Order: sequence, then structure tokens, then C-alpha cells
Amino acid sequence: MTSRDTDIAADHPLAMLSGSEISAAVAIIRAAHDLGTNALFSHVVLEEPSKAELGAWNPGDAFDRVVRALIIPGPELSLIEAKVSLRTQRVIDWTIVQGMRPALAMHEAANAIYTTKAHPEYVAALAKRGIVDIDNVQIDPWPAGSFGYAAEAGRRIARCISFVREFPTDNGYARPVEGLIVHFDLGRNEVIEVIDHGIVPIPQTHGRYGAEDHQPWRADLKPIEISQPDGPSFAVDGNLITWQKWSVRITFDPYEGLVLHQIAYDGRSILHRASVTEMVVPYGDPGEMHGWKNAFDAGEWGLGRMTQSLQLGCDCLGEIHYFDATLASEHGNPWVISNAICMHEEDFGIQWKHVDLMTGISEVRRSRRLVVSFVSTVGNYEYGFYWYFYLDGNIQLEVKLTGILSVGALMPGSGPGEYGSEVAENIYAPFHQHLFCSRLDFDLEGADNRIYEVEAEVVPIGPDNPWSNAFRARKTLLRRELDARRNTDSATSRVWRVENPSVLNGLGQPVAFKLIPTMSTPTMLAHPESSVGQRAGFARHNLWVTAFAAEERRGAGEYANQHAGGDGLPRWTAANREIVDTDVVVWYCFGITHFPRPEDWPVMPVEYTGFLLQPAGFFDRNPVLDLPRSASVHCHSD
Ligand code: NI
Repeated sequence: MTSRDTDIAADHPLAMLSGSEISAAVAIIRAAHDLGTNALFSHVVLEEPSKAELGAWNPGDAFDRVVRALIIPGPELSLIEAKVSLRTQRVIDWTIVQGMRPALAMHEAANAIYTTKAHPEYVAALAKRGIVDIDNVQIDPWPAGSFGYAAEAGRRIARCISFVREFPTDNGYARPVEGLIVHFDLGRNEVIEVIDHGIVPIPQTHGRYGAEDHQPWRADLKPIEISQPDGPSFAVDGNLITWQKWSVRITFDPYEGLVLHQIAYDGRSILHRASVTEMVVPYGDPGEMHGWKNAFDAGEWGLGRMTQSLQLGCDCLGEIHYFDATLASEHGNPWVISNAICMHEEDFGIQWKHVDLMTGISEVRRSRRLVVSFVSTVGNYEYGFYWYFYLDGNIQLEVKLTGILSVGALMPGSGPGEYGSEVAENIYAPFHQHLFCSRLDFDLEGADNRIYEVEAEVVPIGPDNPWSNAFRARKTLLRRELDARRNTDSATSRVWRVENPSVLNGLGQPVAFKLIPTMSTPTMLAHPESSVGQRAGFARHNLWVTAFAAEERRGAGEYANQHAGGDGLPRWTAANREIVDTDVVVWYCFGITHFPRPEDWPVMPVEYTGFLLQPAGFFDRNPVLDLPRSASVHCHSD
């Protein structure tokens, strides 16, 4: 039987789940189980085939498509994890999970806004502040965290904070309603409690960032046009991208957003799968408006679900290829985010150069990179995720942070205190962190790899070190998971090296890639015993390595929302599995500790974080000697 004998239209086992596959899976579930009308689908995603299945598959072979759905049957803490085989048209797994919460349901978050606006105590609290125009009140439901409040046991909670707009397109974040928090039961669509910590006047200075509010505009910016008269150098076949010896397959996950699969250079595999699996934004202000804030923007909201469509010439410039993303709505219908993923090439300055001073001959080659990106808007913040593939084998993830700070109002005449900065008149931005957790399932020319920590070691003064100048590379094999909970150290130029000892380069060395911390690498500042310290344990270290397990998907675990803590990387690595010459997964955590500036207001200029993966003996010599000299009319030597 071939795939054509079944209803499976996908041309590859890792093809993105289509709208018709989502509809088919939901229909099979509904036919097999009476879900009633109120059940919500938290997600409907592809159950990715195993490496063994992928390795055994050849084009034209039949394959199944297994769809994994998470169903919210009602307001109680009871979820259903279902798996459906599209080939047999059957539900093949039906597991009830008790006590866990799914990511916040958008449907329920929208209800929270309407229901809160109609609540008399809330309306009265606004009236005490002179706010009577409810239509222009902006309510942001926030993930609640987990603080053991008795009134919240057994519930799915959001905490609603409020802002006031002067008119519908105003920037509400400039006018926080200080002191007012609504605890909301999302599942039952009811206010639990309206809490009023006291009135602070609404700040009066507007925070609008639209061009019409910032005239006159600069008049001396001349146009930049990116022209590729022969078109781009990449090719796209379904979700397979090929460019300059690179090949990569992409999918789009509701939580992780863009996922890269089967990354290879010249047909040589490097990574089986790469993504950002989790991120947390813990706030460092102990006050009542901010102390509880610690949004898990992947596990609680979903970086994929919050992705917005991109605009040509604005978000991406040049010869662009867009990919749509197809997710499932909470009612189980296909939901297409058009132009969710942007791909283009960028000139990136020089790749290499040398001038022979005896002959005066200059040889220079230009670098370029393939950019695959998406931008997620999670409430007030934007996160742009940019994966770069370079001609020389480098792979980089750059995260661009922008959007609007989460702020509070200051009592006029009072300062911001120790835990935040004043960013505009009577507007205060608490200190916070943005901590990302990437998951890098290396398959460096095969699944069985090992990881070394490599760093500079200064040699003691003595007879072996006659100039007292010597330093060497200390290479430490990470043998077990507990050995591999590591932090960056810029003083020793610490990197981590992924090797395949069974594949040697032309010099007889094991092929390898280095993971290089290129930008800021904070770890969690909240106390390890704090609620967020327990819930986001992944952020206590920059590096973790695990023995591959298919169900270990996201750094804080499967059910981050309101989780009491302890799940994810700390729990999995407590098993202390062996990680030498086996299928390993590298988890790298990085981010920014944000002490906000006045320049971050009212919208933040982009800040950057990320990391670099660099070939280190994967090639025998510079792999870009074969680049042609530049054909540009602007580049000639006479
Ligand atoms: Ni920030």
C-alpha cells in the first residue's frame, strides 16, 4: 500500500498538518466521543514520527499521520490527551489528565474581558478613579502563576489588569489603572475577586507611537531597495527549504512557533529538530501589582498562537517567500495565520578577505545568510525569532525583543523605588527578565553524539610555562545529565562542543559543532525556592543535556500554566541518564535582564539575544573557498 491508497495527502511524514487533516482528526474524535458543545481544543498538532520511522521512510512509501489533540472538556481541572490515526480513522489514545491546566484559552480570555467589564465591583472601582467610559478601558488577562491561594484551587485563573485609552486607537499602556486587579475563573467565566490596593492618579502624558503623533518626520532618509533581478537563491518544495548546500524542513507549533527539522549541510545531518520551547518573564518587583507576574509566553500563551501575519516591505525586505501557518481554533476548526513565516536572503558584509601585501592582490568574498523568521505578539511585548543560515555552516538564532513595557503608575512626586525605573512622567517599569529555553536535538552525522565543555585554562607558572603566558583548551566530557547543568563563563571563553566520535574529518578529528554564547546569558534571579523559581527551573542554568525522550518537549514541562513547579528539565535530568554516545538533546537557555530605560518608552527599540552554532571540524578547511568573486558592478579592482 502506498500513501496514495489512503486519505493521506501529505507528501512527507513531517509535512505541516493541513486544515483538512485537522478537520478530519477533530471529526474522528467527535464521532468517537461525545464532547458536548462546550469542549475546547487547546491544540491539535502533528505527532511527529520517530527518528526510526523517518529513517526507514522513503519517498513514495505509505505512512500514517498521527494527530495529537488536547481537549478541555469543561471548567474542572480535567484534560483529555487524544491521539488519532488518520490512516485507520481511529482514536488510538484517550488519556484523562487530572489536575493540570492547558495554556490559556483565547476564547476564555476574551470572555474574561467582557465579564469583568460588566461586574459591578469592577465598574465601581473604576468610577472611584473617575473612569466611566468602560468601552475605552483595556483589560489584559495575565497568566496567574501559582501561589497556593485557597480560592483558586481547582480553577483555571487569570489576573486581569486594566488600562485606559482616550480613544480606541490610543496606547492604553501609558495609562495604567494602578492598584486594581481582578482574579478571574476562566473555566467558569466568573469574577472570583476584585482587589483594590488603592487609587493612584492615571498618568496624563500620552504614550502614542503612531507616526501621526510624531511630526515632523525625518526627511533625509533615502530609499533602500533590495533587488535580486534573477530571484532568490533558495528553493521551496512544500515545507522543505534548500539554499546553498543547506536543507531544512519547517513546521509551526502553537507553543514553539517555528520548528526546524532535519537541518543538513551538503546532505550531512546537523540537527534533527530545533526550536524555542519555552520562555518566562519573571518580574523582580515585590509590589502587589507586579510581584506575581511571571508569564510563560510559550507554555501559557503560545508563541505560535500569538503570531501575527507579516507585511511585505515592512517586516521583511527584499525577495520574500512567506509560509502560512495552519493551527486549530479552540473549536477544532482549521485556523490559518497567513504570512506567518518570512524567508529571505540578506547580504551580510564580508565572508572573508585578504590583501597580499607583496602583490597588492585583494581577494574578498561576500557573506550572505538565509533568514527564516516569525514575530509573536504576546500582550504588550513582541518577540521576533530569526533563524540565520550562513554560507560557512554557521547557524544562529537571534531573538528581537520589542513592543511595549509592562508598566505601572507612580503617585505624583514619589520616585520609582529600588525595583524599577521611571520611563516617563509618573510611569514606572519594573525590572524583569526574559528567559528563553531552546531545544536543540542534534543529530551530527547520526543520532549518537557526545557533548564536551571546552574553555581556556591558564597554565601555572613553572618550568613548563617559561614565559608565564601559556593557556590551553580544557575539554571536559559531560557524562551524565547532572554533570551537564552548566552556566556560561565569559572569562574562560566557555563553549560546548557537540561531537560524533565515530565520524572523522580529513584530519582524523571527530566532526563537531560548537554552541557559542554570543549575547547575554542571564539565569533566573528569583530565588530557587520562589514560585517562579520552581516553575521555571530551566532558567537556573544556561545548558542542560538530556538523553532523548519523545515526551520531553518543553523546558518547563507540558502544563506550565499554574503548575506548582518542579516539572521540565529539573525533573527529567534528576534521572541522571547517561549522555555519552547516545541520542542527546541540548537545551540552551539565554535571555535578557531588563532594567528599562526612558528610551524603551513608549515602544522599545529592538533588543537582541540569542546564540550561535558553529562548525568546528565539521569541515576540513574553510568551506567557503568555492564562493565566486562578487559579480556586482560596484565591485571591481581597477
Ligand atoms: Ni523587557
